[in-house]
Formats: sequence, structure tokens, C-alpha cells
Amino acid sequence: MHAIGSKINLLSNDTSKGYYDTVKDLLEHELVQKMKEYTQHGCTSTFQHCINVSYYNYKLCRFFNLDARAGARAGLLHDFFLYDWHTHTKETGDHFHGMTHPRAALNNACRHFELSECEKDIILKHMFPLTITPPSYKETVVIILVDKYCGLVETVSHLISKFRNKKKYIDCKK
Ligand SMILES: [Fe+2]
Ligand SMILES: [Fe+2]
Repeated sequence: MHAIGSKINLLSNDTSKGYYDTVKDLLEHELVQKMKEYTQHGCTSTFQHCINVSYYNYKLCRFFNLDARAGARAGLLHDFFLYDWHTHTKETGDHFHGMTHPRAALNNACRHFELSECEKDIILKHMFPLTITPPSYKETVVIILVDKYCGLVETVSHLISKFRNKKKYIDCKK
């Protein structure tokens, strides 16, 4: 298991052990695993997207001496809304997934895990400024940037694969 753009195996490499130990219990939870069933950007599953955000949150928070545990754990749960957002509007009439999914993710996360106030803030406000309330923690500012960066890289890498008509893209069209 890797984060996008990183060669480090998050499950075995010693340099990532701190990260893995921080999120192991969440990663193994069946509902977190269920995020593999939903596509987030391009060919990237919601699970992989959350790993990407979680890992880079962890690295950046450590670099800036912030709460890396909160960054990693809330990063993994920030899109824990458990539905296919591509069909969500048609099925529910909710036209504002971009604004409503942080609350859905937080509600799900609180139902299954114990969260700190910082972790709650990270999940609830990760879409700022689309959601109006500004972040209360520096760790939330980190995810706001990391989430957008990962989304952009995931989308662009999908477009490149599509352009090159590689197998990765074909698999995604299943
Ligand atoms: Fe999100
Ligand atoms: Fe996200």
C-alpha cells in the first residue's frame, strides 16, 4: 500500500512505521475498508484518496511540529461518507455534496471512533472555503491544502492515463 507519489510501502517500510501504527486500527476497520468500493477522483478510490491525504497530512504536521496523529487519523476519515457521490444527487436530491459530505463523514466517524476536538475540526472543515466556517486548528489548514493537492494529482494522473489509453484507465471503466 502506497500513498500517491510515494514509493514507501506503508505496511512494511520502517520509515513509515510511525504512520502505520498511528492509523492501523482505523485502516483495519471494515467500514473504512468499505471506502474501497467508491470512486473519488478519476480511477482513485475514496479509500486510496483518504490514504493519500492522511499520509501527507502526517508528514506535513510532523514537519511543522503539529499534531501528526490528528492529521493522519482525521485525514483517513475526512471523506468517510460511504456513498458514491457520482450518483448521490440522483438518488437523494442532495445537490450540495461538496458542502454536506464533511458533516456526513464526521457523523459516521463519531459513530464508530473516538475523536479529539482537533480531529473533528479537520474533518468538518476540510472543504473550506466551500464550507464557510474557517478552521480552528493549524492541522485543519494543512488538510485544506493537502486534500486539494491530492485531488488535483489524482485527477491529472487519471487524465494522463486516459490520454495514453493505458490498462489502468481501461480497468477503471469496468
Ligand atoms: Fe472531502
Ligand atoms: Fe478529500
